[in-house]
Amino acid sequence: MTVTGAAGQIGYALLFRLAAGAVYGDEPLHLRLLEVESAVASLEGVVMELEDCAFPTLASVTTTADPEVAFAGADLCLLVGARPRSKGMSRGDLLEANGTIFAAQGAAIGRHASPDVKVLVTGNPANTNALIAASHATGVPAENITALTRLDHDRALARIARRTGRPVSELSRVVIWGNHSASQVPDLTHALAGSTPVTDLVDAEWAHGAFVTDVAHRGSAIIESRGGSSVGSAANATLAHARDWVNGTAGRWVSMGVVSHGEYGVPAGLVSSFPCTVDADGSWHIVEGLDLDPVVRERLAATSRELEDERDTAARLGLLGA
Ligand code: NAD
Ligand code: LMR
Repeated sequence: MTVTGAAGQIGYALLFRLAAGAVYGDEPLHLRLLEVESAVASLEGVVMELEDCAFPTLASVTTTADPEVAFAGADLCLLVGARPRSKGMSRGDLLEANGTIFAAQGAAIGRHASPDVKVLVTGNPANTNALIAASHATGVPAENITALTRLDHDRALARIARRTGRPVSELSRVVIWGNHSASQVPDLTHALAGSTPVTDLVDAEWAHGAFVTDVAHRGSAIIESRGGSSVGSAANATLAHARDWVNGTAGRWVSMGVVSHGEYGVPAGLVSSFPCTVDADGSWHIVEGLDLDPVVRERLAATSRELEDERDTAARLGLLGA
């Protein structure tokens, strides 16, 4: 498998857990790490540390600045390498800076990765970068390129647990809809704590107010506080998304940024977060037939419009392939 941006902050936070088996368990792991040329020397230091852990699961590590080498035969690609935003920026502001990375890497994945490769985009703006990558990844089904909204999902779980006093392990059916941006729609209207609807445990004002804004603006709050964007929690969410995609969720709902076929009125072709389940063979399914709360429906339309705007900007910048 391949990790891009492997010498960056999230790369450092995820590689050791990945090598220890966080996604593939005891299966031998052949890791290919991609970085820009100027960061390959620093990446070699990370590889020394990986080696010093003597992980029984880590069969080989290749470092490279060449996407052809990095993606050759890959079954799973974690696309983390991209610029993070700083204070005052929106994630969408990164489109111009980061979009070219995903166009080039999508093309290289189409040419060199395994035909049934799974690609997870963490680099921001994650949804539209996934769309850009998919548009260049000839021969790779759009369903195989997903974007990370699991961090938002986990942030929502943590908030509900705190508010209700119920443990995270009892919570289910939480949803993030739309874009990994301030317009995202955290939705607890279907959520359960054990068998109790979460809507019986929290008031509607919180459910549609502070809960939504806190989750949607958590990334900015972390940037304000740390002076840099989330790292440990982002690495954790990236691994959780990858693990669930590879191994299945046994009916549990997770939020994933996936290509829309028009579900819930999200225009086809956009990469939007939906509630998903994943079969043991790695195929994901959007949970269908949910009756959407009117407030959620309205907000979902707004976040979809933002995704359309990002797609149109990407097209204007010449970042979209065929
Ligand atoms: P970072 O700057 O510490 O690391 C990024 C790394 O990517 C750097 O080492 C850089 O050299 C490398 N890189 C840049 N261009 C590359 C290319 N073409 N090929 C390979 N590597 C390349 O940043 P970080 O904190 O690790 O964050 C990485 C990205 O993840 C950012 O875009 C950030 O906004 C995003 N992020 C997303 C989420 C999410 O929930 N979707 C959460 C947190 C961070
Ligand atoms: C996050 O949600 O923490 C990341 O996407 C980083 C950011 O820019 O907010």
